[in-house]
Amino acid sequence: MGSASVVSAAARRLQGKVALITGGARGIGEGTARLFSKHGAKVLIADIKDDLGESVCQDIGSSPSSTNGCSYVHCDVTKEKDIENAVNTAVSQYGKLDIMFNNAGTVDEAKPNILDNDQAEFERILSVNLVGAFLGTKHAARVMKPAGRGSIISTASVAGVIGGAATHAYTSSKHGVLGLMKNTSVELGRFGIRVNCVSPYLVSTPLAKDYLKLDDDGLGGMYSNLKGAVLEPEDVAEAALYLGSDESKCVSGHNLVVDGGFTIVNAGFSMFGKSE
Ligand SMILES: NC(=O)c1ccc[n+]([C@@H]2O[C@H](COP(=O)([O-])OP(=O)(O)OC[C@H]3O[C@@H](n4cnc5c(N)ncnc54)[C@H](O)[C@@H]3O)[C@@H](O)[C@H]2O)c1
Repeated sequence: MGSASVVSAAARRLQGKVALITGGARGIGEGTARLFSKHGAKVLIADIKDDLGESVCQDIGSSPSSTNGCSYVHCDVTKEKDIENAVNTAVSQYGKLDIMFNNAGTVDEAKPNILDNDQAEFERILSVNLVGAFLGTKHAARVMKPAGRGSIISTASVAGVIGGAATHAYTSSKHGVLGLMKNTSVELGRFGIRVNCVSPYLVSTPLAKDYLKLDDDGLGGMYSNLKGAVLEPEDVAEAALYLGSDESKCVSGHNLVVDGGFTIVNAGFSMFGKSE
């Protein structure tokens, strides 16, 4: 993933901000780390893929568009101690935490019959996708409350909005992430903290390719409501950039769906033709 374009100093929308990104070693999180850094943020990547995370950081740090560096911390989002440590590392290294991006996520194998779904697997997905977002929100709030400001963003999904798009566990976890976002935005608004979600449709990342057993070409051909639009990690990163920046200072409790209109149409009952 390249980071060719350099953003001029005046146009840097996160200048001076500190961002912690879980699941930042690859995919959407990596794309967001690169974009946030281009926009002047100090970025801490938290992941379990240590080698990958370290190398993304090194690459970001050595990029001509980055003057602010990037660092990596090992963090399994299902473990409260790890999340606590990641948040504390952001504060000790960079002095504060402005943006928490709860983005780490995983998906289970598609088994269309509920009788084939087992409890341990269901709980594993809930643990990463939902408990991880809860712990990230909790520990970000811990340091943002005294500061009286902050932006917490979680990656949900179109599977958090509609049924039938993914497995029972994944769909349940992402609906839960939206509920958590709404509830915490009500609680934390009093402290000047905004809480929002980004909800992508299919993005060509290892997660989506493994799940659908498709390559980039196959993914590009998936149905979308918007002709010519192929969702890429950078598109989701742009949505997170908006929610992390002061340009969204009045936006809280919002689910920013990035899906080319996929979730607002019932394809089985529409007076308009499908896009190709
Ligand atoms: N790719 C899509 O089509 C799509 C669509 C909607 C939502 N999402 C969501 O976007 C987010 C990012 O997914 P992606 O597509 O970039 O996937 P990805 O697999 O490319 O990246 C996910 C990252 O999360 C990390 N991770 C997994 N479990 C973790 C844990 N326990 N602790 C810390 N890090 C962990 C992985 O190591 C990886 O670096 C996820 O929350 C996913 O559910 C993805």
